[in-house]
Amino acid sequence: MLPFIALLAAVKTGSAAAALSSYMSPPPVSTIEPSLTQIEKAAATALSLSPVSNVKGAAFDRFYQIWLENTDYSSAASDLNVKKLSAQGITLTNYWAVTHPSEPNYCAVAGGDYFGMDNDNFNRIPANVSTVVDLLDVKGISWAEYQEHEPYPGFQGFNYSNQATYTNDYVRKHNPLILYDSVIQNQTRLELIKNFTGFNNDLKNQRLPQWAFFTPNMTNDGHDTNVTVAVQWSYDFLIPLLNNDYFSKDTLIILTFDENESYAQHNKVFTLLLGGAVPEHLRGTTDDTFYTHYSNIASVSQNWALPSLGRWDCHANVFQLVTDMTGYKTQQFDTKNLYLNQSYPGPMSAKEYVPIWPVPTTDKTCANGMGVLSSVAKTWGGMKPTLYDYSQDCVGNLGGSAG
Ligand SMILES: *[C@@H]1O[C@H](CO)[C@@H](O)[C@H](O)[C@H]1NC(C)=O
Ligand SMILES: *[C@@H]1O[C@H](CO)[C@@H](O)[C@H](O)[C@H]1NC(C)=O
Ligand SMILES: *[C@@H]1O[C@H](CO)[C@@H](O)[C@H](O)[C@H]1NC(C)=O
Ligand SMILES: *[C@@H]1O[C@H](CO)[C@@H](O)[C@H](O)[C@H]1NC(C)=O
Ligand SMILES: *[C@@H]1O[C@H](CO)[C@@H](O)[C@H](O)[C@H]1NC(C)=O
Ligand SMILES: *[C@@H]1O[C@H](CO)[C@@H](O)[C@H](O)[C@H]1NC(C)=O
Ligand SMILES: *[C@@H]1O[C@H](CO)[C@@H](O)[C@H](O)[C@H]1NC(C)=O
Ligand SMILES: *[C@@H]1O[C@H](CO)[C@@H](O)[C@H](O)[C@H]1NC(C)=O
Repeated sequence: MLPFIALLAAVKTGSAAAALSSYMSPPPVSTIEPSLTQIEKAAATALSLSPVSNVKGAAFDRFYQIWLENTDYSSAASDLNVKKLSAQGITLTNYWAVTHPSEPNYCAVAGGDYFGMDNDNFNRIPANVSTVVDLLDVKGISWAEYQEHEPYPGFQGFNYSNQATYTNDYVRKHNPLILYDSVIQNQTRLELIKNFTGFNNDLKNQRLPQWAFFTPNMTNDGHDTNVTVAVQWSYDFLIPLLNNDYFSKDTLIILTFDENESYAQHNKVFTLLLGGAVPEHLRGTTDDTFYTHYSNIASVSQNWALPSLGRWDCHANVFQLVTDMTGYKTQQFDTKNLYLNQSYPGPMSAKEYVPIWPVPTTDKTCANGMGVLSSVAKTWGGMKPTLYDYSQDCVGNLGGSAG
């Protein structure tokens, strides 16, 4: 791992060949709050897309992530509906969120890092940072997001509250792809970021994509309620889908939580793998391998033989279910002193701002030898690693452990 403090000193004296951020102080906080009239006007003409594809994967043909909110491992594990769902899938007992609070975790699962983010602000990641959808596009693997009660596809406002009670409903901070300029500056991509009505239509019309991210609203994901409500919602949502052949066949679903609730604890979160892609003999079992939110990107790369983003996904552990088919080598990791409960400094940090964009690695060993996405290498290749060297470990725990 790079000596971070030495690097900071070098930046302060201007001697590092760093990718300096366009901001020399923390990015401005805006909350883009369109009025209801503006929203209704935009909704009237907003388009949506439902492309389909059928690219065979090693262990699954579809990968669907469903994220719930702020729950300690033990609270989830003791829930009655969790027990019923676990019987149908694999419980990941050593799966970790990567920091606190919510938004950086959603950011990380799309882009392979949270860039120092330590807040739930209106953060925008610059267009030269790639995400998992750039990887999927390499092979034309169809994708979408389903964000409950987002008022129209590609909505970029900070929130869309319940219009009768003005309580939290849709929030931008729980929408991973909308945080990225490389997504919002592309109209096609905006049309793929739909709400649950869009999901129901795609299901009914048999137009489901091969990769999707689901965010229930602030009631159903447990944020403004509790784990009982979130898991009840998940159970009611998933059971019919698991029994639907069109939905379930060769589909891998990961049901997880963005972060642990108790900040002073290890940030491990209860996680289940479900769906038709889970082999019969593995149902009702547990997997104790060390995984993080970055494992979702790495597993997608490994499953479809895609390259890496060159960030913390480079050497992240891949789900055993996939490595069983591909032979990817899992790294053991001693988690005794690992917390992953606070963000390291970076360009998205409000508390410990550093005006540098971390440079992705172009290490050929990333993604089990698939290397790094060519557009990432073209934009960032040849630059010295700044802040940290993503090729060095599978955790990205700089500053994430206690102290
Ligand atoms: C990426 O974008 C950021 C923000 O605009 C900029 O500071 C940085 O220099 C860019 N880096 C590269 C390699 O293009
Ligand atoms: C969902 O999006 C559609 C447009 O695709 C919009 O007409 C509808 O009002 C939205 N519905 C909900 C419940 O958010
Ligand atoms: C967003 O939240 C604020 C504060 O709760 C609220 O006043 C506003 O109406 C919400 N915006 C929308 C579009 O729902
Ligand atoms: C969240 O969605 C559910 C339906 O899935 C709805 O009953 C509930 O009212 C929504 N929450 C808010 C705050 O609007
Ligand atoms: C826009 O997004 C689509 C879907 O991800 C992609 O196929 C296309 O190449 C993108 N266009 C540009 C100019 O990046
Ligand atoms: C969650 O809240 C409901 C009431 O809304 C309550 O019945 C339930 O016991 C709560 N669950 C937990 C784990 O506190
Ligand atoms: C992370 O956990 C450690 C160990 O419990 C604790 O000392 C530290 O304060 C925690 N950090 C945050 C931001 O809560
Ligand atoms: C958060 O995860 C840790 C690590 O597994 C676990 O001990 C604990 O149940 C969770 N936190 C709390 C306060 O329960």
